[in-house]
Amino acid sequence: MAFENLLVEKRGAIGIVTLNRPNALNALCQALMDELVAVIDDFENDAAIKVVVLTGSEKAFAAGADIKEMAAKSFIDAYKEDFITRNWERVTKCRKPVIAAVAGYCLGGGCELAMMCDFIVAADTAKFSQPEITIGTMPGAGGTQRLTRLVGKSKAMELCLTGRMIDAAEAEKAGLVARVFPAAELMVEALKIAQKIAEFSGPIAMMVKESVNRAYETTLAEGLRFERRLFHASFATEDQKEGMNAFTDKRKAGFKDR
Ligand code: CAA
Repeated sequence: MAFENLLVEKRGAIGIVTLNRPNALNALCQALMDELVAVIDDFENDAAIKVVVLTGSEKAFAAGADIKEMAAKSFIDAYKEDFITRNWERVTKCRKPVIAAVAGYCLGGGCELAMMCDFIVAADTAKFSQPEITIGTMPGAGGTQRLTRLVGKSKAMELCLTGRMIDAAEAEKAGLVARVFPAAELMVEALKIAQKIAEFSGPIAMMVKESVNRAYETTLAEGLRFERRLFHASFATEDQKEGMNAFTDKRKAGFKDR
């Protein structure tokens, strides 16, 4: 598949998608988001792909939703086309683990897209903000919700109300980012993490993801019940037998995604 706004590569079990609108700092226009949906659909349907890495350029993961594209929209335009909501959530529905590898600007809708991924690894050059208030609007793709769950109310409120940009170190300290690497090593490290996950059982990784995500959407008691059900279900897989037998036999497990 050839895309105008993305570069796509399959490297073994890892699907890599690179946001590629260099002249607009990877601003997320509708065409780009439509392409991203197509790529995620393809990765999802490809049994050989077990983990997805979403990245941008050295200068920008993405500098937000495309301001020029949305500036003239009326309320009724935005409402009728279900602006932002229509297909932006596709990444959150991906059942395979999705890692955001972020360097440079990760602003507004860019930060929201990164937060839709399962976790964020960042270059030491990464800069995060929800600057929507500075252009007379507010986060519209989950910024007030996902950021608050990740960093807590006080910090999310301060960031969304001031539009202040934070660096990778502050983002890691706040819990927005899982790991920070020197910029030159970002992709190598992100791919190492992806490869590590890809070597485990795919279905078990999907269960882990489903269960962690459940923590966002339910009470502790319900979440624990859900986790217990999936934990028990893992004993129905061949990979559970293989993993535990390999431990006992003191050998490396050979998972079959079954
Ligand atoms: N939308 C459209 N175009 C954008 C863009 C955006 N979000 N961000 C950058 N660009 C374009 C610029 O217009 C510029 O294009 P031209 O060369 O044609 O003028 C090009 O990308 C390079 O940008 P700059 O010249 O501004 O680069 P800079 O290095 O001087 O500044 C920046 C970088 C601080 C990131 C600045 O570009 C900026 O502030 N961008 C906007 C950030 C922003 O407000 N994002 C939130 C968008 S709203 C949103 O995302 C809503 C939501 O919740 C979904």
